[in-house]
Amino acid sequence: MNKNTLNLHDGLLLATGSERRCYMHPDSTGHCLKVPIKPGLGKNCPQCRLDVYIAARLKSRGVPFVHTVDCLGWVETNMGPAIMLQRVLNQDGSPSMTLKSALEHGLLDWNMVKGMLYELRTWAIQYAVVISELNIKNLMLRTGSDGDRLVVVDGLGGRKPDMVFHLRSRIPWMARHKTLKRWPREYNKVKDAVMNILK
Ligand SMILES: Nc1ncnc2c1ncn2[C@@H]1O[C@H](COP(=O)(O)OP(=O)(O)O)[C@@H](O)[C@H]1O
Ligand SMILES: [Mg+2]
Repeated sequence: MNKNTLNLHDGLLLATGSERRCYMHPDSTGHCLKVPIKPGLGKNCPQCRLDVYIAARLKSRGVPFVHTVDCLGWVETNMGPAIMLQRVLNQDGSPSMTLKSALEHGLLDWNMVKGMLYELRTWAIQYAVVISELNIKNLMLRTGSDGDRLVVVDGLGGRKPDMVFHLRSRIPWMARHKTLKRWPREYNKVKDAVMNILK
């Protein structure tokens, strides 16, 4: 095994998503690693490729990573290629929960979520970031004395890298238009999911 290969094991597993497993970085508390679940997929993992591309675009445009995380590219692990990302941590250094988990723990009411969604939308419009899909497992709650906020960890920027996707990532008004058009639907989807847990 290459000396740069990172060794992952079940003890480091943070969560399993629909396409990837998310592990703690073995040497850095501030980072995590996502490995495709499908065996042999490696660097052909579509969502990993999108994450690398989208983070690079946001960085080149100077968008602050306030409501999403930076992706630092591909690394080798004993489980195959993985992408390395900033891990969402609270201001006190404790691990952040998903929005779903925070709701299940009784940490939030709908008005708090509503306020944080409004802030997320404001950031997306200000920096022309495409939000076309929201889900309570892909949103994390980052707590801090400067206020709690939602951080999108999956699906930001769109899922289908077609021509319109590339245009939107370069033409701000197109990105804003997409976010504004999708917002009511995504907002209502999140609201339904939140109410379903709080009922
Ligand atoms: N940057 C991150 N920091 C901390 N936990 C994360 C991060 N990204 C993902 N997770 C956790 O891992 C889970 C799965 O990651 P996700 O990117 O949604 O995978 P998938 O694309 O397979 O759905 C998330 O629901 C969340 O619990
Ligand atoms: Mg996900």
